[in-house]
Amino acid sequence: MTDLQMGFDGEVAVVTGAGQGIGRAHALELARRGAQVVVNDLGGAVDGTGGDAAAATAVVREIEAAGGVAVANFDSVATAEGGERIVRTALDAFGRLDAVVSNAGILRDKSFAKLEVGDLDAVLDVHLRGTFFVLMPAFRHMRANGGGRLVLTTSASGLYGNFGQSNYAAAKLGLVGLMRTLAIEGARYDITANAVAPIASTRLTRGSDGDDSDPMAPGRVSPLVVALCHRSCAISGEAFVAGGGVFARTWTALGDGWAPGEGESTVEGVAAHWDRIRSTDGGYEPPDAMQLADWLTARRESAAGSPPNA
Ligand code: NAI
Repeated sequence: MTDLQMGFDGEVAVVTGAGQGIGRAHALELARRGAQVVVNDLGGAVDGTGGDAAAATAVVREIEAAGGVAVANFDSVATAEGGERIVRTALDAFGRLDAVVSNAGILRDKSFAKLEVGDLDAVLDVHLRGTFFVLMPAFRHMRANGGGRLVLTTSASGLYGNFGQSNYAAAKLGLVGLMRTLAIEGARYDITANAVAPIASTRLTRGSDGDDSDPMAPGRVSPLVVALCHRSCAISGEAFVAGGGVFARTWTALGDGWAPGEGESTVEGVAAHWDRIRSTDGGYEPPDAMQLADWLTARRESAAGSPPNA
């Protein structure tokens, strides 16, 4: 039994890509707080090639040595069968599933002009399709069994762009769209979904994992992820940046925009009003796409009753 306020006694968590780096840190922290953890990791190279049971096995041993409970799974998230088996491992070993942190990741960085289809497919398969493959069986299970917590791993590259990462950025922002929709569809079943864009010293960014003395150690991302995994946390549909012990929300909002009357809604009108159209004043975040349409209607109707430049 843990005596921590945010404990996970009796709960079961799956962390994908938990053989090293940020995923390992999440798995260790969840286990330290009493969760029974499925440590999934294919154990491949940074580019996704190869496979080795050593990484996930070592993390399970580390958890057990600290008095925790964990089981290893070596399936790839990049196939539907792999995703099913990862979720099945939790149910077979522990009989339930409360939280999933979809974290597994690879890189195939190339400038867009040099990108090959194989680099696109490999990255979409692990990050985007791989998250679907794990969360589809997990969501169905949680929907039928009292809910759960889903944390998806996005990236600053997806949110803001990064040279040489078109494949990765597109996959990672795709996960924000998936997360927003899971939050909407999961709400009535007490399933929450959130996304975290981590920043940490790992083999992806620095060649190897930063140790505890490193200000950007992977473990400095985990407090936010583990808090989102807790049943007491009802936050859903939100994205956060976490790294170096700094935690901040990131979101997609609309500016007030320019809503001219009928006559001015022309190419010339747009060209003359870029300052208004591009302004970030306002900052409305619609809860879903339908309510963006409502906002647009309300904005148009209020403009219709105002002077032409409103
Ligand atoms: P890492 O390379 O240390 O760990 C990723 C793990 O995922 C590896 O152990 C790898 O074997 C595993 N993996 C890869 N493909 C897999 C598959 N098909 N099935 C199962 N496991 C697989 O990388 P890191 O830095 O810990 O990254 C973790 C997540 O955070 C990734 O999704 C990454 O894109 C994301 N991220 C990391 C950032 C950073 O600053 N380190 C920045 C932004 C996002």
